[in-house]
Amino acid sequence: MAASMARILFLVSLAAALAMAAAGPAAAAAAAAAARGHGRLIHLHFFMHDITGGPGQTAVQIVKGAGPAHPAMPPGSHFGDTTVMDDALTEGAAASSRLVGRARGTYTLASLREPVLSVAVNLALTGGAYNGSTVAVAGLDDISVGVRELAVVGGTGAFRRATGHVLWRTARMESRDHMVVELDVYATVPAARSPPPPRADDVRPAALNLD
Ligand SMILES: *[C@@H]1O[C@H](CO)[C@@H](O)[C@H](O)[C@H]1NC(C)=O
Repeated sequence: MAASMARILFLVSLAAALAMAAAGPAAAAAAAAAARGHGRLIHLHFFMHDITGGPGQTAVQIVKGAGPAHPAMPPGSHFGDTTVMDDALTEGAAASSRLVGRARGTYTLASLREPVLSVAVNLALTGGAYNGSTVAVAGLDDISVGVRELAVVGGTGAFRRATGHVLWRTARMESRDHMVVELDVYATVPAARSPPPPRADDVRPAALNLD
């Protein structure tokens, strides 16, 4: 009995260690919590297209900051500048790749001196097993840093009571007005709230990588 329990615990730690090795240290804590039975870790990976001008514009400035010119942002930027977005989320980095959702929310230039945006965005998913579910994300986006970490503060549908974090990195600039941002979402949802497993024909692992 004790021996079989020890074996089960060993297998659980092995699974957690393998998950950490695969997902990197950023996801390790969430994977460990999930392994302890506190919830289920869901990993999503996709690209966000923030297009602030020109054809296909998806982000529009709604507040023009009234203060002096911002010292760390492109000319014309001011503390308080606020943009509303309805950005496409795609499976791959190309804008033409499969649409898996929209990123709807706002970002505000909220640092007096540094190039830091305060982001509040809802990821409305339409692809794969999470069609109709949303993930609520909030945090700071320091555009001078390679990888930014924002918080998963909640969600709806499959992401009810979600907690976790999002790794957010600029993948490339398609043009001066079109930034492609790569998002890795690590959300833990309570085990009791887990939705039924997706149907086999509903799973599109390339679009929404389920860990
Ligand atoms: C997602 O759900 C909506 C509303 O139920 C439906 O019209 C749409 O076809 C679904 N999309 C996919 C990709 O399953």
